[in-house]
Amino acid sequence: MEDRYLELIKIINEADYNYHTLDNPTITDQEYDSYLRELYEIEEKNPDIVRDDSPSHRAGGKVLSEFNKITHKIPMLSLSNVFNEEEIRLFDSRIRKEGIIPKYVCELKIDGLSVSLRYEKGKLVSAATRGDGITGEDITNNVKTIKTVPLVLNKEIDIEVRGEIYISKKMFNEVNKTRREKGLEEFQNCRNLAAGSIRQLDSSVAASRKLDSWIYHLPNPSDYGIKTHYDALMFMKDLGFKVNPNNKLVNNIDELLDFIDTKSRERDNLPYDIDGIVIKLNNISDQKIMGFTAKYPKWATAYKFPAKVVLTKLKDIIFTVGRTGQITPNAVLDPVLVQGSTIRRATLHNEDYVKQKDLKIGDTVSIRKAGDVIPEVIESIKERRSGNEKDFVMIANCPICGSKLIKKEGQVDYYCTNLKCDARNIEKLIHFVDRHAMNITGLGERIIEDFYNMGFIRNIVDIYNLKSHREDLIELEGFGNKSVDNLLLAIENSKNNSLERLIFALGIEQVGEKTAKVLAKKYETLDNLMNAKLEELIEINDVGEIIAKSIIDYFSNEENIRIIDLLKKIGINISYTGEKIKEKEAFLNKTFVVTGTLNNYSRDEIKEKIENFGGRTSESVSKKTNVVIVGENPGSKYDKALKLGIEIWNEEELVSKIN
Ligand code: IVH
Repeated sequence: MEDRYLELIKIINEADYNYHTLDNPTITDQEYDSYLRELYEIEEKNPDIVRDDSPSHRAGGKVLSEFNKITHKIPMLSLSNVFNEEEIRLFDSRIRKEGIIPKYVCELKIDGLSVSLRYEKGKLVSAATRGDGITGEDITNNVKTIKTVPLVLNKEIDIEVRGEIYISKKMFNEVNKTRREKGLEEFQNCRNLAAGSIRQLDSSVAASRKLDSWIYHLPNPSDYGIKTHYDALMFMKDLGFKVNPNNKLVNNIDELLDFIDTKSRERDNLPYDIDGIVIKLNNISDQKIMGFTAKYPKWATAYKFPAKVVLTKLKDIIFTVGRTGQITPNAVLDPVLVQGSTIRRATLHNEDYVKQKDLKIGDTVSIRKAGDVIPEVIESIKERRSGNEKDFVMIANCPICGSKLIKKEGQVDYYCTNLKCDARNIEKLIHFVDRHAMNITGLGERIIEDFYNMGFIRNIVDIYNLKSHREDLIELEGFGNKSVDNLLLAIENSKNNSLERLIFALGIEQVGEKTAKVLAKKYETLDNLMNAKLEELIEINDVGEIIAKSIIDYFSNEENIRIIDLLKKIGINISYTGEKIKEKEAFLNKTFVVTGTLNNYSRDEIKEKIENFGGRTSESVSKKTNVVIVGENPGSKYDKALKLGIEIWNEEELVSKIN
């Protein structure tokens, strides 16, 4: 029987490979099903013999309470971007400057999420997300459900490979169609859906989404005697991985530009989304000469396709009310597909914006969307007007509660000032659970709206009492036992968030995610922040008078204090648990300005570091500046620093001070 079991594993894994990876079925569906049934029967009767490489794992079924962390043996880097021919030539010339005569491999830049797969003796042992590049999440169970990821390789070797997990445009449309029918929020694009599916704790959900893979990177080719990236791709293909057939070795920059040109035109016909072309130096020895920055290899880059512009009809302009009562006009568009997402709405910001663009209802408008950027209405096409278009009229009353709108002096926005306005309350709740705030997954906008209208959640405290409505929730359409339990668990887990999330989630006017973090780090507990004096807040880097006043106002409001007291009673963590300030002499109480590009840090990273060491950062050089950090191609701030005789550090000095 064991022999038969091993034979079945082999037959089914091979059939999966031929069908899914090679797109070349070798057995009929009936045969496949009968082998699979036989395998299941054996496993059911002999649970002890189930092997890790059994195709039964592809069905999913394991449910985790959270993902374990995996530290990458080699960091998973991202890619630098180039946006036009000039920048591509610059990338090429930087390589030539090192005396290299480059050949490149051009690849499609798949719009999914990257994964690292580890095999021992040819067997898949773990799969991890990129995470922050150093540590990712263990998504092995979910990755096993992807039919094109081999559970066993053709050779019994130890190897780590990297690639992209993605979802086809077809699957994306199917999932969204079902969600639309169920009244659930739709996924924005293929990447969001792929990312959402791979981060499911229940692997049968991942299995149902039919994810797919392309493998494109071998982190240590020299270990296998491989000398070029192209050979690495072939090597991985021979091992059984799905390697993209569009990959092409080019001999010079003209061939490279040709490739980009062709693929830009063909991309809409591909069954999956791509957002650019990846350019990689072919020779591994040349790659070693070029090396890495802290974030990117210097031997590769990603050419990003330009934002696409499409025409559609402006059907209506409707108004929404934000959590601060701010009124925003929104374009209701004839749905159009732009770069993988269907655009139905676009913000029009405020009355002035609509008037400047002279938009009329019924106009044909051009819209643009790039990557994660929210869609934007560029202009109306005046030549297409028929004369039946309607003028835009700004409303005078709140579209939800009917209160008269007011416009503060010198501002462009109108506000509904009714604190009891339902729209504001709902927006406050939506903000509270946001991924960047308390991060409660499972409480989408529409669900909040429904729960609000049903009276389950009227304020943020009610979210934490939702568990008393468990039975009611299970009865609701689109909800089941499991999804309700997942939701309640996410709510409970959010109680342990570090303070910065709570500060941001409270929705204090003017306090964004970044300010929330600065405040949490500085004050460490909510009580300390609540006791802070205006003068003290103003002094903080990144705060200033307007934000400081808003914070004081917020904590002077009785209703806010009542809610905070209730949150404390519920057991919400109100302390900062993130990285603490570790004062460093060289930075303490000094003001820094950064100019030019640093190789090892992004702007935000270096600012965070400086603040962590007890320093301050500022955007402009003045007499108050203590140190100017100068990277490559510095701007006029450098000249000013020289003029004022301010201490200057180059990147090398900066790094030595940090370490
Ligand atoms: S190579 C050190 N190749 O793009 C090598 N990445 O913007 C790093 N991506 O994090 C990656 N298609 O998730 C590479 N053919 C391809 C790719 C690709 C998509 C993704 C990957 C990476 C991101 C960088």
